[in-house]
Amino acid sequence: MKKIGIMTSGGDAPGMNAAIRAVARRAMSFGIEVYGINYGYAGLVAGDIFKMERSSVGDIINRGGTILYSARYPEFAQEEGQLKGIEQLKKFGIDALVVIGGDGSYHGALRLTEHGYNAVGLPGTIDNDIPYTDFTIGFDTAVNTVVESIDKIRDTAASHERTFVIEVMGRGAGDIALWAGVAGGADEIIVPERPFDIQQVAKNIQNLRARGKKHTIVVLAEGVMHANEFMDQLKQYGDFDARSTVLGHVQRGGSPSGRDRVLASKMGAYAVDLLNEGKGGIAIGIENNQLTYHNMTDLFSSKHQPDMELYDINKTLAK
Ligand code: ADP
Ligand code: F6P
Repeated sequence: MKKIGIMTSGGDAPGMNAAIRAVARRAMSFGIEVYGINYGYAGLVAGDIFKMERSSVGDIINRGGTILYSARYPEFAQEEGQLKGIEQLKKFGIDALVVIGGDGSYHGALRLTEHGYNAVGLPGTIDNDIPYTDFTIGFDTAVNTVVESIDKIRDTAASHERTFVIEVMGRGAGDIALWAGVAGGADEIIVPERPFDIQQVAKNIQNLRARGKKHTIVVLAEGVMHANEFMDQLKQYGDFDARSTVLGHVQRGGSPSGRDRVLASKMGAYAVDLLNEGKGGIAIGIENNQLTYHNMTDLFSSKHQPDMELYDINKTLAK
């Protein structure tokens, strides 16, 4: 292993920079040359590739976003794009590519692997929706951002005795809603992984009100429906003085939490160690607090499952 490439792809996530730093510095400690690829697969195909130095990754561990930029580049789903990408990697003499990204980016890395190119996936997404890892880089920070927002909205909800429907990100996954819902003391958590009955939700809110709790926090995963739509449905079953809030992209930004920085550092270093041992075509994860890896080709035979215990626990915690 003489030269490796790093890229970030798909939605940016806090801690991607810490992962870039870890991969680059660990590789350099073995004397491996490191190449940064800007703008994900778009930059790969365009040959937007540059040699990195130790200083290229200085002062970034604390920064959200990604210094390598990111892009959505659907053309990479076509074989033509994939072959062009491999051509560029070969032109620069890059032996292996570390892709930091989410579900879609992993599919790109899988395609490279299927073409016989050595790609390694590091899970970087706020959604926490990658198979074979309990946590992805960026998830913890996003949860903390959402919790901070719920705390603020709670003040208004309590002062005005209102019901708030707070829509959080996660694409098709309910992880952010579950974790932030429990941590934020939500009365209801609505996720794609569990069916819900709007009439029952309304009844629960009425019961809470009858017991003296006049304000309600509903945390809604975006994968279920839009907050406005949910609120409109809810209003059919009672007057809850409801408001909806869509937290949106604030959830993607900001300085990564200590936990995300550590996770990124551990995973980045581990990926390089495995490459240095001659492994490849793998995805890095953390399972039961142990770093693990799985063959990229096996990854999508499994589907990520959120911790649904949180859902059940929360049912008993709402007062
Ligand atoms: P994320 O990685 O955060 O899930 P996307 O789903 O947008 O974000 O995927 C990021 C990029 O990965 C896409 O813009 C595209 O370049 C590449 N990609 C996504 N799906 C595929 C696929 N099926 N095959 C090859 N490349 C893909
Ligand atoms: O995958 C990260 C994510 O923020 C999802 O939670 C969300 O559904 C999506 O990206 C938003 O994408 P965009 O930034 O392209 O609107």
